[in-house]
Amino acid sequence: MKTEKLRLENGYDENISRAAEILKCGGIVAIPTETVYGLAASAYDENAINKVFEAKGRPQDNPLIVHIATMEMLSEIAKDIPNVAIECAKRFWPGPFTMVLPRTDKTAPAVSAGLSTVAVRMPDHKAALDIINKSGLPLAAPSANTSGKPSPTTAYHVENDLDGKIDAIVFGDECDVGVESTVVSFCCNPPRVLRPGAVTVEDLKEIIPDIAVDKAVLAEPSKGAKVESPGMKYKHYAPKTECYLVEGSGEEFADFVNAEENCLAVCFLEDSERIKIPKLVYGNAKNEATLAHTVFSVLREVDGFGVKSVFIHAPSKQGVGLAVYNRLIRATGFKVIHLSKTVIGLTGPTGAGKSSLRFVAEKKGFYVVDCDKIARIAVEKGSNGLNALIKVFGEDILLNDGSLNRKALAEKAFSSPQNTELLNKTIFPFIKELVFAEIEKNRKVILDAPTLFESGINSICQKTIAVLADRDIRLSRIIGRDGISEEAALLRIKAGKSDEFYKKNADFVIYNNNDSEKFIAEFENLLSSIE
Ligand code: TXA
Ligand code: MG
Repeated sequence: MKTEKLRLENGYDENISRAAEILKCGGIVAIPTETVYGLAASAYDENAINKVFEAKGRPQDNPLIVHIATMEMLSEIAKDIPNVAIECAKRFWPGPFTMVLPRTDKTAPAVSAGLSTVAVRMPDHKAALDIINKSGLPLAAPSANTSGKPSPTTAYHVENDLDGKIDAIVFGDECDVGVESTVVSFCCNPPRVLRPGAVTVEDLKEIIPDIAVDKAVLAEPSKGAKVESPGMKYKHYAPKTECYLVEGSGEEFADFVNAEENCLAVCFLEDSERIKIPKLVYGNAKNEATLAHTVFSVLREVDGFGVKSVFIHAPSKQGVGLAVYNRLIRATGFKVIHLSKTVIGLTGPTGAGKSSLRFVAEKKGFYVVDCDKIARIAVEKGSNGLNALIKVFGEDILLNDGSLNRKALAEKAFSSPQNTELLNKTIFPFIKELVFAEIEKNRKVILDAPTLFESGINSICQKTIAVLADRDIRLSRIIGRDGISEEAALLRIKAGKSDEFYKKNADFVIYNNNDSEKFIAEFENLLSSIE
């Protein structure tokens, strides 16, 4: 098939009329919109719709969006429209916003891929609206790319994918927005975002405060799971080269990619100077709209570099950033590398029971570093830590076999506050070094550290949590745990820091008295909010 090239700059009206004519006769035409180019066909013509699926190689169970130019068209194709949907239409149309609503039986069933609903949007693009008006038809139009490839944001992208397979391409400008419209289903309560776009979740909350965001927006759908929007099932936007989404600061990203071989970095303008390997800039990190604008054309370029892997600096999930993130996580097949770390300090006085949280943290994917154990390793026989202690406190802190005599050290070190401080100053650097090595190995770390603040280890934690408990409860726990007398247990409590100390220093304080279920739930909630 020869594809007609309808260039708007060579005569706007006649090319719009030609596009409308082809569509009325059951043909399929790629048209520009403000989001991405769409491959249009009459929404009333089953045969034309089938041609769209065929030209794109699109799976038959993935329904299309119907484009309209007037509210009258909306009532032709959708019914039982809730008021909140009308309110959203008034606010966001024409614009990058698609509503899923119950369908009438006017549109061809293939548009909805057999569902009882239809997706509708009014594009904010003069040529698109003129073609709809001129043809008098609502136009079903998926993005005008070969299925699985990045969506086209220029007519040349469309030409690359579909030349020879469709009746015509309308050559307009590069698309403003760059990512496809926000899709919201009004067939559930509360309404739900199925695909994020340039109308942001924040924008939608102004009209629908309790709007839901589908899990599939950021998570990989598990095999066989029911997906609200069929489009979410498919691997999308994917270059042939192996791509990874990389989360981390500009510095972390640059250090990481600079050390890799045979790869390409897709980065922010802000990263650009630091990066010493081949790179493509896809916009300004702080202006997510620039990233949306460029992301698909950049994805189309990466295969041309002939590298082994592509590392893409992950955008924020704020505003339009969420839409960019959603497309990139699909382009990479959900392969995300986390360079940034979450390090949480967990502390508290003896007997408060912070160590009982260990399994809860592990269940939530945290690696727990037992700093007490590390402190013992730091002074093992022959270690640098032990040698440093010998220099300060003398050879008589050793047993005959050259290992540390803890009792002897304690006697010396706790004989005066000055000596205690001397002990801490000597040994903490060695403990810290080992803790750092542990942190290196893992992304999400909890430091279980009785002397978190005293050692200064808190400085590497994003947040600190102190676990406290009433004195009597701690007393009986210590007696039970260590099998010592009440007197000895009291001494230990006295030797430790006061509750006030922890309240003053920690970001969060949680109590572990008698309700352990509540205690664990509080801790879990804290971890989720910090992460
Ligand atoms: O910006 C856009 O929306 C572009 C331009 C051309 O308007 N169009 C576009 O169409 O992105 P397409 O087909 O590539 O994406 C349509 C999305 C798919 O994820 C599809 O699963 C979903 O909308 N969708 C369509 N009808 C639906 C329905 N009845 N229920 C749930 N999801 C639906
Ligand atoms: Mg698409």
